[in-house]
Amino acid sequence: MNTAEFVVVANRLPVDRVVGADGSETWRTSPGGLVAALEPVMKSVDGAWVGWAGQADLELEPFVANDIRLIPIALSEQEVAEYYEGFANDTIWPLYHDVIAPPQYHREWWDAYVTVNRRFAEAAAHAVAQNGTVWVHDYQLQLVPEMVRALRPDVTIGYFHHIPFPAHGLYAQLPWRDQVLRGLLGADVIGFQRAQDANYFLAAVRRRLQYNVKASIVDVPGETGSRPVLAKAFPISIDTSPYLDLIAKPEVQARAKEIRESLGHPKRILLGVDRLDYTKGIRHRIKAYGELLAEGRLKVEDVTLIQVASPSRERVDAYVHLRDEIELLVSRINGDTDTMDHSAIRYLHQGFPREEMVALYLAADVMLVTALRDGMNLVAKEYIATRADNRGVLVLSEFTGAADELRQAVRVNPHDIEGLKDAIMTAVEMEPAEQGRRMRSLRKRVLEHDVNAWSSSFLEALSAVRARHA
Ligand code: G6P
Repeated sequence: MNTAEFVVVANRLPVDRVVGADGSETWRTSPGGLVAALEPVMKSVDGAWVGWAGQADLELEPFVANDIRLIPIALSEQEVAEYYEGFANDTIWPLYHDVIAPPQYHREWWDAYVTVNRRFAEAAAHAVAQNGTVWVHDYQLQLVPEMVRALRPDVTIGYFHHIPFPAHGLYAQLPWRDQVLRGLLGADVIGFQRAQDANYFLAAVRRRLQYNVKASIVDVPGETGSRPVLAKAFPISIDTSPYLDLIAKPEVQARAKEIRESLGHPKRILLGVDRLDYTKGIRHRIKAYGELLAEGRLKVEDVTLIQVASPSRERVDAYVHLRDEIELLVSRINGDTDTMDHSAIRYLHQGFPREEMVALYLAADVMLVTALRDGMNLVAKEYIATRADNRGVLVLSEFTGAADELRQAVRVNPHDIEGLKDAIMTAVEMEPAEQGRRMRSLRKRVLEHDVNAWSSSFLEALSAVRARHA
């Protein structure tokens, strides 16, 4: 295989394998933000993408889809259980999200994580051209930067961390805390969502490894002298253009009206859109909304909450329990408050295509983002991008990365149920002029700091490092 100048390494490939009823195989662009974020970069360079096709025991040769060269990594059934569902999503994910669910520490899971990280690193080292660039993504692959550097000292290595990095008091629980820090420090530039994440990481490096840290630069000692590593915030964003295109389509606007009609024309539609994940604060949001109905501050004839909860990591216990909890709560509230014509909550445990999501955003008077901890939260930015009419109110948890940028949202602490109830009422009752004032400023921020701004600033920082080495 030819080598590539620019290699992206992520747990998932940018396409999903779809097997038709007749057994035929097709590939569909996967809906994740990372693909949309990197597609423009990938198309402008000689690039390749190393990742997993999302199914166990699938051995595939490298292939091209949507003009991107893909290098699939095979995972056995046991590796899916131990590396992906286990260490990535039942150890690191809960630990890095402030132990909202208790992290599980298992030595076999760690061993599988090391083995699979090495497989990704070897594939990347094999694919990248002399003096090329490797860009590693997210918490599933924290050891890859160091492993690639050992195999290919000539390449420039970037790593971007899409989820939060925890405070030292929590991070210190991880039995393999030093190995993970060393793994990440194999990169030349380590990007985080928030300044706080970068600071927590730098503090962990100082305390655990006693490396010298000045401002955002770590001096990593090596056999041939020390190597500078930049660790800094590069807040990610969305590709705004497909959203701007869709809101201009008459059929999408008509669909937004149809959604409102199908709900019996409530005065206000509230919307939540999340993967069904315990970090998202879905339970807190629904509880607050249920209390507002019970207390008569909201009336079921006047409001509907649409909650889209897309299925996620369904074999991990914490997710199984969460689903039961949410579905019990939703049916209790609906049972207590619905009339024949109106439903308090329209709950959808499904994923939808982007067109339908945009119609929902246009129909929603209030968008509820109440995550207990979230690296960024791109749903908040998607909602804002669609509101070219300068209407609608975003209620936004201060525990999201997005809260650092979206200062004109109605900010909430989702743990404070009374505060959350007041914030929902503020949003429901907000005058159009005030909505417009806030939305204009939010849109300016999102349209200016889009995903292209994000990838360019990260890649510029990487080339600055390369220039220093040259
Ligand atoms: C988060 C993570 C991504 C991950 C996505 C979906 O956004 O930061 O790395 O791909 O969730 O989760 P999944 O486990 O389905 O890949």
